[in-house]
Amino acid sequence: MNATQEKHIAVVGGTFDPIHYGHINLGRAALSALHLDEVWFMPSGSNNYRSDMGIRAEKHHREAMVKMAIAGEERFAFSDWECAQPGSTYTSRTFAQLNATFPEVTWYYVVGADTLHSLKYWEEPELICNSVVLLAAGRGEQVTSGELQATAQTLRTNYGADIRFIPWEDMPVSSTQVRARYREGSFAREDLPPGVYDYMTSHHLYQSLEWLSDQEILDRCDATPEERGYYERLATMLTPRRLRHCLGVMHMAMLLADGYRNVSMEQARLAGLLHDCGRTENNALNALGHAPAGAQVARRLFGVKDESVLSAIRWHTTGRPGMTELEKVIFVADYIEPFRGHMLHLDKARRIAYTDLNQAVTFMGESTVRYLESRGEDIDPITLETVNYYRGLLKKQPIPGQYQ
Ligand SMILES: [Fe+2]
Ligand SMILES: [Fe+2]
Repeated sequence: MNATQEKHIAVVGGTFDPIHYGHINLGRAALSALHLDEVWFMPSGSNNYRSDMGIRAEKHHREAMVKMAIAGEERFAFSDWECAQPGSTYTSRTFAQLNATFPEVTWYYVVGADTLHSLKYWEEPELICNSVVLLAAGRGEQVTSGELQATAQTLRTNYGADIRFIPWEDMPVSSTQVRARYREGSFAREDLPPGVYDYMTSHHLYQSLEWLSDQEILDRCDATPEERGYYERLATMLTPRRLRHCLGVMHMAMLLADGYRNVSMEQARLAGLLHDCGRTENNALNALGHAPAGAQVARRLFGVKDESVLSAIRWHTTGRPGMTELEKVIFVADYIEPFRGHMLHLDKARRIAYTDLNQAVTFMGESTVRYLESRGEDIDPITLETVNYYRGLLKKQPIPGQYQ
């Protein structure tokens, strides 16, 4: 390798929920202490599970705030390395992948000095220590304390860690404090990096969706003017409760698309909003018939031409074998949307949904079958076909029944 190609890049990681000046100063401290080519701000790819009720910010909102906060800062760069992956990510795996992908780069990981104390409890601490140079940022008396030096020495001895202390004026601010004070209304715009406060308020972040009006949920979802028009039309067709459910499915579909990144967020949002447009009050169609009717209503009344969206509306109640990713997202979002209060095992269903969509479809299909059986209601043959198809993918036996 040509020595001139070598690069030195430091990573500042975290959930950035939201990003604040403490994070920015961590990056600045690294730049001041070493000759670095870049500092990457890399939001963690946490799986949105904690944001489904809206108390935490959605992944794409966290990313947007980081981009705003570092704009114009020399040698600061945004990285979606972790956010682009579904599910939770681990620092150890991230740096192992970064080393494999960019062999010319020496990687540094910037942490608050106190973080060293907890490093041994992280996932695969030895792999972290072997993959990066740890830049432990702290105040003078903090980094020279016997306790911290002893911890650093233990990490060097046990894991071969390369730890360098860098001066940093720790700031009395944390994301937890920011969220709490923001909810109390005691936070000012200038207390956060440029743009972050305005972004938080315009998207109504850090507030439960239950507290938000319908219009505020549309803001939270970045709904387009066209989608807002669809909402107004839906409001003349559906009960307020059904309308609210549609907004919940819209938000949840957006979260799942945000998590998996193989589904268009725009398609997920639109299909979520319109998925129950066939379930009008004066429509005699039962729980099953409203889905194919909805696809027709979306096409004829709303003018939706996107066949993928129409198909997701068509199959949202029964599912079908071999669903597209968008169809799975709508099927699952309908089951776990934030305003659902009565479904069985809802918490478990939500956790699965952020981990594996095929498992989620299976779990929710099985729950639906059990529920209908317990009430002695008819089960649509396609529902059973769907459940057994996805059970087959997971190598589970088919559910016995007359429809096999
Ligand atoms: Fe429905
Ligand atoms: Fe629904």
